[in-house]
Parts: sequence; structure tokens; C-alpha cells
Amino acid sequence: MRLSGAVVLVTGASSGIGAALVRRLVRAGSHVVAAGRDADRLRRLAAETGADTLLSDLNRPNAGRDLAERALARHTRVDVLVNNAGVGWAGPFAGMADPLADQLLAVNLRAPIELTRALLPGMCHRGGHLVFVGSIAGRLGVGGEAVYAATKAGLDAFAQSLRMELAARPVGVTTLVPGVVDTDFFVRRGEPYRRRRPRPLPPDRVADAVAEAITRDRAEIYLPGWLRLPVAVRGVLPGTYRRLATRFG
Ligand SMILES: NC(=O)c1ccc[n+]([C@@H]2O[C@H](COP(=O)([O-])OP(=O)(O)OC[C@H]3O[C@@H](n4cnc5c(N)ncnc54)[C@H](OP(=O)(O)O)[C@@H]3O)[C@@H](O)[C@H]2O)c1
Repeated sequence: MRLSGAVVLVTGASSGIGAALVRRLVRAGSHVVAAGRDADRLRRLAAETGADTLLSDLNRPNAGRDLAERALARHTRVDVLVNNAGVGWAGPFAGMADPLADQLLAVNLRAPIELTRALLPGMCHRGGHLVFVGSIAGRLGVGGEAVYAATKAGLDAFAQSLRMELAARPVGVTTLVPGVVDTDFFVRRGEPYRRRRPRPLPPDRVADAVAEAITRDRAEIYLPGWLRLPVAVRGVLPGTYRRLATRFG
């Protein structure tokens, strides 16, 4: 679908991948609705790009539906929805407090489902595109990130199922499968990224990939592309994969 002139709602727009995507989409001529919680960051982004902004805490009940309604009230239509907002947590599952697990489920999985449910009917009439920002954690599982990985696996399955269901409709669906991206994500989750490899990708590169996915209706994008390899090994040789993953993390 054409980015120029499209109304695009981006969640998690106040930071990292979302903010980079807002800049990329505005450059492409989209009317961007940038949603997030951090009012100061959103104000600065709006001043820089001219994007419209909506404050929304997706951890609240019905927040996804409410955000969709407010976006439609302002722009009458949403052509592209980018479900990007996400929150992580790292540590042993046994030590994870219930409210934290609930927060990950609400922001990473429930809100995207609510937003999609509210915006999809209009897209089915006019055409549209849905983007889901997943994670390699959701494809492979990661020790110490069980709930995060589960929310991303759920998002992944939701997106892939929708792509099949909507095959005859004018609505594209993209799943993004990033590895490590250079954002505040790791600091916010309480554990910085300390490994030397894989090297974190710049968020601009992820934004370029999302823009291309929408334009060319790509079903899924791994970033970087070689992440397909461990997923393939796990599918074909699960025992070998487990041994390698246990050894190299
Ligand atoms: N960075 C990575 O290595 C990596 C890898 C794989 C996947 N991802 C995924 O990429 C997406 C973007 O993350 P990022 O790397 O750009 O991290 P980030 O810089 O921490 O950005 C996360 C965004 O999500 C928003 N968010 C968090 N909790 C929210 C809530 N309760 N309500 C509304 N918005 C909320 C934040 O908004 P506020 O700042 O306004 O609270 C922020 O805009 C996430 O879904 C993440 O899981 C990231």
C-alpha cells in the first residue's frame, strides 16, 4: 500500500523503533498518529515531525479500543496500524510479580488485539495494512524472558492467523522479527544488553524495513536476516538447537 497520504497509527511512538518509524513515515508523506505515554517525548516528536499525537497507557483496561476510537474521531480512518508498543522484563520466572506479568500481557498482546479488532472493519472496506512488532524471543524462547517471549509468540500467532484469514481481503499483514535493536528497551526492562554479539541494529534500519514491508506487503521480516537460521535449525533439528542454545545462549 502507498505510504503517501495514508493515515498511520503507530503505538510506542515516543521512543526507539516507534519514534524512528514516525520520522520515516512522515518523510514518506503519511499522516502519522503517534501514540505513547510519555507526553514530553511525544510533544518533541510532534514539534520535529508535525505528526499528530495521542496519549495512551495501553496497560489500562480497554485502552486499545479507546485509542482506536480517538484516532478515528480525529482522522475518520486509519489505513495502517503499527502495533509497536512493547515492554520487557528479564529475570527468573519464579521471581516475577503478577502485576508485571499482567502488564506484559496487556501491552504486548491484549492491546494489539483490541486495536486490530477496532480498526480492521474499516480496513476491510477501504484496504489497509497491519504491522506487528514481534521478537526473535517469540520465535525461539529465551531463558529469563519467559513471559515476554510468550507475549511475542502470541502476537506472532495472531498476526500469522490474520494473514491467512485476510488473504482474500485488501488488508496486508506483516510480522516483524527483530533481534537486538539499539533502543532504551533493555535499560527499561531492568537489565541492559551486555553481549558483544549480535550487535544492536540502529532503529532507523528497522523503520526502513517496516516502511518497505507496508509498501510491498511483506508477510514477515527478520532483522537481521540471518535470524532465520536459528529458527530453521530449531524447526528441523530441535535437539541440536537446544544443545547449541544452552551452550551459547
Ligand atoms: N530493542 C530491541 O532489541 C527489540 C528487539 C525485539 C523486539 N523489540 C520490540 O520492539 C518494540 C519497540 O521497542 P523499542 O526497542 O523501541 O523499545 P523502547 O525504546 O523502550 O520503546 C517502547 C515503546 O513502547 C511504549 N510503551 C511501553 N509501555 C507502554 C504502555 N503501558 N502504554 C503505552 N505505550 C507503552 C513506550 O512508550 P512510553 O515511552 O511513552 O512509555 C515506548 O514508546 C517493542 O514491542 C519491543 O518488544 C525490541
